[in-house]
Amino acid sequence: MSTPRSDGPLVLGIETSCDETGVGVVRGNTLLADAVASSVEEHARFGGVVPEVASRAHLEAMVPTIERACETADVQLHDVDAIAVTSGPGLAGALLVGVAAAKALALGLGKPLYGVNHLASHVAVDQLEHGPLPEPCLALLVSGGHSSLLRVEDVTGDVDPLGATIDDAAGEAFDKVARLLGLPFPGGPHIDRAARDGDSVYVDFPRGLTSRRDLERHRFDFSFSGLKTAVARWVEARERSGEPVPLHDVAASFQEAVCDVLTRKAIDAAASQGIDDLLIGGGVAANSRLRSMAEERATARGIRVRVPRPGLCTDNGAMVAALGAEMVTRGRAPSALDLPADSSQPVTSVLA
Ligand code: KG4
Ligand code: ZN
Repeated sequence: MSTPRSDGPLVLGIETSCDETGVGVVRGNTLLADAVASSVEEHARFGGVVPEVASRAHLEAMVPTIERACETADVQLHDVDAIAVTSGPGLAGALLVGVAAAKALALGLGKPLYGVNHLASHVAVDQLEHGPLPEPCLALLVSGGHSSLLRVEDVTGDVDPLGATIDDAAGEAFDKVARLLGLPFPGGPHIDRAARDGDSVYVDFPRGLTSRRDLERHRFDFSFSGLKTAVARWVEARERSGEPVPLHDVAASFQEAVCDVLTRKAIDAAASQGIDDLLIGGGVAANSRLRSMAEERATARGIRVRVPRPGLCTDNGAMVAALGAEMVTRGRAPSALDLPADSSQPVTSVLA
């Protein structure tokens, strides 16, 4: 943990891009509150997030979550220096709830409003735990909706995508494979747990976009849909032959394939850019195997790894507040009050 600082702007951040209503309060790089209300249980029986259900849940959770965050941080709303909100990317209806709430607060309190990028927030959140980001740093961003490698020169405005998934996101692959193994949604944490007692070399699942030919065109891109299909075929073949499916071994072998590709490409990207600091963010960064493998492989190449604690990897409001505080500190001009929610906001557009 960095030494708590009592200076820096006091920022309230709101996150509603998917199924977590997150409200965080930070002062500079110091985390004061991180209140999260999740609607995940309402989506579980559908095996994925239902946008309309998520939007309604955000609406219901918004005011109580703001109150809880302020109470924990022991601040009054009128004390904050700025309001930050995820303006995109994410589910349009879900984003709108957060953006509308943030606009109302900014207008009512007479405070500046910062509409920030969800993906850049997943990077900025690490400042709350490990202090100012090294510049530049190489970020591996792995979540339910995104998997990308970014060169981050300045998290408030200079983010350069080097590669991304060409099909499924890493978290999506975890969720889909979990489903076919009969594990609940979201599947990432369940696979992580099941894999702990499994044999990671039990099945040699394919590593997407790692052949010499693929590397020529897709050196820093990912593909997980072939892996997901390979797991499905393997499980089907087992079931057809009447043999039991070794859940723990399949989970461990699948997880190994994902982590192998993610860490290999991330380290290759860092090395090719001459960058010594790798930051991993997004929900999948909570994965225990990804964390240990990245640490081991990066250290062997002289690259330092930073990963926020698991609770800060999955969606939360503190990450939005952290990026908002950095915007204020760097003197960025706030967003306009007619700021739109942009479901496909590109990672290059950090401040809307
Ligand atoms: O960043 P996040 O909370 O939401 C998005 O922006 O998508 O990421 C959610 C994703 C889900 O796919 C979930 O299964 C995955 O992160 N996840 C994990 C773990 N914890 C969450 N995947 C693998 N291992 C975990 N421990
Ligand atoms: Zn996310």
